[in-house]
Amino acid sequence: MTDWTSLHGDSFAGSRAMVTGAGGFIGSHIAEALVKLGARVIALDDLSGGERDNVDVAAASSPGSVEFVEASVLDESVVRRAMGGCRYVFHQAALPSVPRSIEIPRQFHEVNVTGTQALLDLAVESGVERVMFAASSSAYGDSETLPKIETMPALPKSPYAANKLAGEHLMRAYASCFDIDTVSLRYFNIFGPRQNANSVYSGVIAIFAKMLLAGEAPTIYGDGEQSRDFTFVDNAVHANLLAAASTTPIDGEVINVACGVRITVNELVETMARLMDRSDIQPVYRPDRAGDVKHSLADMARASNLLGYTPIVDFATGMDATVAWYRQALGAVG
Ligand SMILES: NC(=O)c1ccc[n+]([C@@H]2O[C@H](COP(=O)([O-])OP(=O)(O)OC[C@H]3O[C@@H](n4cnc5c(N)ncnc54)[C@H](O)[C@@H]3O)[C@@H](O)[C@H]2O)c1
Repeated sequence: MTDWTSLHGDSFAGSRAMVTGAGGFIGSHIAEALVKLGARVIALDDLSGGERDNVDVAAASSPGSVEFVEASVLDESVVRRAMGGCRYVFHQAALPSVPRSIEIPRQFHEVNVTGTQALLDLAVESGVERVMFAASSSAYGDSETLPKIETMPALPKSPYAANKLAGEHLMRAYASCFDIDTVSLRYFNIFGPRQNANSVYSGVIAIFAKMLLAGEAPTIYGDGEQSRDFTFVDNAVHANLLAAASTTPIDGEVINVACGVRITVNELVETMARLMDRSDIQPVYRPDRAGDVKHSLADMARASNLLGYTPIVDFATGMDATVAWYRQALGAVG
């Protein structure tokens, strides 16, 4: 729905970019925008959590401009070959679930930290200009202070959050030691079409969509007045593209990517139920989950100052598009 050309002109026309995790949710949206902007995209994914179909959708506007490489970021020889000639790397591949990271922390470290460092080494070797890293607001931990400002101390509360923080530090270290520029984009609750709804580890919006479409009551932990900075995926894509096109070095800075608006979980369910014509369904309330953060909200000053970023799609518009997509994808049209 976003007109990428009107926002980014010909900044990417003819350039070669690698998107890791391109079979996943956010990576496939970055790949799709790059294709529309005339880039040649190397879509790398081991399909452990993503889908080949997502790459095909991303490539739809110009199928010849996407090369899909089914491989792990840890597969050095394949990644080295695929990265040749790339100007940018958008590193989205990761094992993304907080609860799963508590079950298998070493595997998470291997993919999310060792994999990120391996990719950085190859990016330096290949002469990549800039790496955009998918960082996470989970780095802020459960501090109550709002809004979350990048200068606040990071207090990771899960192996996943610690992995993502390690990735940020690697980005900064490589920008300072090697001839490469990097940036860590701390995503806050990204949602939109193609976010996987079929896993127990899925994000809250994907899970609510699936339940409401099945006519089932979504479960809310606590009183539903907890809030999040829910951010439509096109905003994350926009931040990535702005970062890649920056004419000045970003030097491994950490930058929040969000909308700077708090939406409560009650408001979220109400909006989704209304858009799905299921306002008759009332959520079920369960006790608070230990460790859940009450509120999350991003300070957007640094994104604005360093990238010239402001959100391009607000919550309501993004939710319309997302609900329409889930209705189709989950076979509940009409
Ligand atoms: N969705 C959010 O709200 C959010 C918030 C903060 C950070 N992030 C980060 O953004 C990135 C993208 O998240 P997403 O929501 O699109 O998740 P996703 O699971 O849809 O995408 C991740 C992709 O990475 C791939 N992958 C996993 N291990 C791999 C490996 N070893 N080699 C190659 N590919 C591999 C998976 O197959 C999947 O397609 C992740 O790094 C995640 O940690 C997401």
